[in-house]
Amino acid sequence: MSGPENPPKSAADRAAKLRQTLDLHNHRYYVLDDPLVSDAEYDSLLRELQALEADHPALADPASPTRRVGAPPLEAFEVFLHDPPMLSLENAVDEEEVREFGERAKRYLRQTFDRELEACAYVVEPKLDGLAVELVYRDGLFVSGGTRGDGVRGEDVTQNLRTVGAVPLRLRREEGAPPPPALLSVRGEVFMRLEAFGRLNRARREAEEPPFANPRNAAAGSLRQLDPAITASRPLDIYLYGVGRTEGIEFESQSALLGALPGWGLPVNPEWRRCTDLEEALARSRELLEGREKAPYEMDGAVIKVDAFELQRDLGVKSRAPRWAIARKFPPKQETTVVEDFVVQVGRTGALTPVALLRPVRVGGVEVSRATLHNEDEVAKKDVRKGDTVVVQRAGDVIPEVVAVILKKRPKGARKFKMPKECPVCKTEVPPRPEGEIVSRCPNPKCPAVVREGIRHFASRRALDIEGLGEKLVNQLVDSGMVSEPADLFALERDALAAMERMAEKSAENLIAALEEAKRPSLARFLFALGIRHVGEHLAEVLADRFGGVDALAEAGREALEEVPEVGPQVAESVSSFFADYRTVVDNLLAAGVRPAAPERPSSPEGGAAPFAGKTFVLTGTLSARPRSAAKAAIEALGGRVSGSLSKKTDFVVAGESPGSKLAKAESLGVAVLDEAAFEKALAAKKLP
Ligand code: IVH
Repeated sequence: MSGPENPPKSAADRAAKLRQTLDLHNHRYYVLDDPLVSDAEYDSLLRELQALEADHPALADPASPTRRVGAPPLEAFEVFLHDPPMLSLENAVDEEEVREFGERAKRYLRQTFDRELEACAYVVEPKLDGLAVELVYRDGLFVSGGTRGDGVRGEDVTQNLRTVGAVPLRLRREEGAPPPPALLSVRGEVFMRLEAFGRLNRARREAEEPPFANPRNAAAGSLRQLDPAITASRPLDIYLYGVGRTEGIEFESQSALLGALPGWGLPVNPEWRRCTDLEEALARSRELLEGREKAPYEMDGAVIKVDAFELQRDLGVKSRAPRWAIARKFPPKQETTVVEDFVVQVGRTGALTPVALLRPVRVGGVEVSRATLHNEDEVAKKDVRKGDTVVVQRAGDVIPEVVAVILKKRPKGARKFKMPKECPVCKTEVPPRPEGEIVSRCPNPKCPAVVREGIRHFASRRALDIEGLGEKLVNQLVDSGMVSEPADLFALERDALAAMERMAEKSAENLIAALEEAKRPSLARFLFALGIRHVGEHLAEVLADRFGGVDALAEAGREALEEVPEVGPQVAESVSSFFADYRTVVDNLLAAGVRPAAPERPSSPEGGAAPFAGKTFVLTGTLSARPRSAAKAAIEALGGRVSGSLSKKTDFVVAGESPGSKLAKAESLGVAVLDEAAFEKALAAKKLP
């Protein structure tokens, strides 16, 4: 007999196979950046494993790929002890200081051990700006992990680290690699790639959540969440660069360590180099500095480490930093300059954003002449005034921002900045900020700035993606009064366009064609393009899936909206008031011939049609071709639903061997019965009999 305590061998085998396959795909995706399967295929395998584990609790495995998510939130973090301590690094701001570090090391060896060192080999690694952590593996299984903290006591963030795709839950054994040792604690940096950081911040702005100032804050803030579900939703990555305690293995050098870790599936930044002496190491760090702007992550320096561990042991540690390593710091992406004036920008939602106009300055290789001050409270907090000398910084793709004012340099009589009482564009009076809001808004929906930004958003790449409708052209169209709402775009005529300044005949034609093409967006894109507050790309998809059409969404009341998972009162309020205020804008678009396409429902993970959509299945008896959980996953992948209870509403009963009473009941209810062969045939053909 097989029950929950004693799963059939086929289920155990299938679970093992799925875990192995999922681990491999995970490694290919997160560590090697070279996926073998689509996201949808991965998801479908993961769902199958989830179903299997749910059916057979005895198959539980702490290293299962299903365990990356779903741990409950904590009240507080436990303490995580580091033994040996996690050290920090001394900094060198130029090459001379690095040479002095080399000389100091030699002197120390001479004085302490009477040992003369001619030259020694170094390893150079990029220094990423994130959060240092330790991962502990026992017998190849990830058992715990913690932040660096003060070097001795950090926070236990095990369940958050589990959600980081690049952290293997079970060590691999690549070809030629030794088996994982009994104990391996490795250290490294959790960080966020610039692209992921940009995406995260865009989503946060769309949701009107404050963006992160830089990738470091984003990484650190994401890892130190009590609710691992939040960490899981953040695109974190990790590179390992050090070792703590080990049992069953010893490394001879940093280069041997970095060479070995990938053999167990542990990600190492491939930019590390072994250099035969310090000058070569300096040359390599120069190379890294030159490549800094092109790197996919924020690099704040290069770490130069003595390669041989024996030498490292002799050199030892001075206070908190080792004598065998140094950080060659790169110049900060921060500069000082002068605030020449302020302007207040009006955004798509009418939001008023104060911006400092700066005396142009190069920051991290890019010229900066404006910096956002975010909102009124920020200006007040930093107390930035016209004429002030300020520190500006650029992080990732974030708009440059003013970090601080250098008060000593403030000119006499510099006056506090005040937000204007009326919209700088349409002069409408700005109402007081509602409680709890951080921004003031121009309340005029016809404000040319609001219209312009709305149209730009509507046409942007992630919305309707209307090629050829750039910023300048939108401005011209709005300023000339040819366009005052999105629907007007579709009424534009070739000749009128061609008559505009700097518009060639051919470009006019191309734009008309692009507009024609844009009339068939997916419903999700269409909803996103409308620019409803708090509805970013993701929520637009959720709403499209749930309501399937513009009218259904427009007519859904607040209550129906709030029933949708992920939709809270704020979004529900925003959506319903959008349709109350702007229904005609939407209707005009539909009248102009825009036809948003409803999603195929229910959407199939393969992205294709859903041939079992709307059909309910009941499984009975023993299936031989695949475990029940796999059968369930296969049905769901084709859009069908599996239920445990048989009723008149059931469409099909799938009967395996020794089916029991359900078969007789199905027959009495007149529900269609598929034997296993017919069921497998239907799955293969993606077609029901
Ligand atoms: S080695 C001696 N290597 O820099 C061991 N640290 O100031 C000290 N970091 O807390 C760490 N990349 O957060 C090392 N390749 C790298 C690093 C690195 C970034 C960070 C780490 C550490 C800090 C030291």
